[in-house]
Formats: sequence, structure tokens, C-alpha cells
Amino acid sequence: MNNPTATPAVAEHGAAIVALEAEHDVIDLELGTLKSAILSGADGALIIYVLDRSITFCEEHFAHEEGFLRDHGYGQVDDHAALHRELLDRFRCARDRAAGDSMPLAALDAFELLQEFKEHVELYDRPAYMEVEKRSPRTLRTNEAFAVHTAVL
Ligand SMILES: [Fe+2]
Ligand SMILES: [Fe+2]
Repeated sequence: MNNPTATPAVAEHGAAIVALEAEHDVIDLELGTLKSAILSGADGALIIYVLDRSITFCEEHFAHEEGFLRDHGYGQVDDHAALHRELLDRFRCARDRAAGDSMPLAALDAFELLQEFKEHVELYDRPAYMEVEKRSPRTLRTNEAFAVHTAVL
């Protein structure tokens, strides 16, 4: 963020959200790679490798996001974390099916998950980020008002 008018706390939120959105882009690319691997008839080992990598990225991203939301007092962080766990469980299930003898089904699961991940970002992540951004200026104004009030006393 290079906005000279942003207060430090708002700029910090902005930077964290840009970083989280960059992680969304990485996961999106990962899932796109998975789709290409499946469509091009890549062997099971490669597909499992990409799935494992996607799962690792998701675990890291979800941890970052939950930490961010918790640190900024987002009220529904536990519900949000439960949605993450559900997505991860389904990812791991697809990975296990791919490692077994159900590769075509696992591939279908993976396509579905790609779509669900994008829906999760639209339906839950972006509204949560907006909520955090809305709260911050209010918190800052409250702190500033308190500082002024204290200085007057
Ligand atoms: Fe999320
Ligand atoms: Fe996210």
C-alpha cells in the first residue's frame, strides 16, 4: 500500500488484505494447474503431487486468514474456521481417492473444490475483509477521541 493519506493501522490492514488476496491468486493458479494436469491426462503421481501442494497452500492460507480475522476482532471467525476445515477435509478426501483407485472421481471432486474455493472467497472472505476494514476507522476514531479527551483532562 502506498497511500500517503492512509493512517498506519489502515495501511497495515490494507497490506494484510493484499497479501491474503495474493494467496488466493496462488491457490487459484494451483487449482488451475491441477485442472490442466487432469485434462492433459497426467499420471496419478503428478496429480497427487499437485493436490498435495494445493492442500499445503490452503492450510497455510487458512491459518493466515484466521489469524488476521482473529487479530482484528472479526466476530464470526470460529464459523469461518469451520468452513475452512470442511474445505480442507474435502480436499484431503479427494487426495485419498486419487491415491486409491478412484482417480476419475477424485478429478471430479477436484474440479468441484476449485469452484467451491472461489465461491468461499466471494461469499465469506471478501465480506469478512470488508467488515474488518469498516471496523478499523471506527476504532481509530475512538482511540483518537480518547487521546484528545485524555489530553484535555
Ligand atoms: Fe476464508
Ligand atoms: Fe481466503
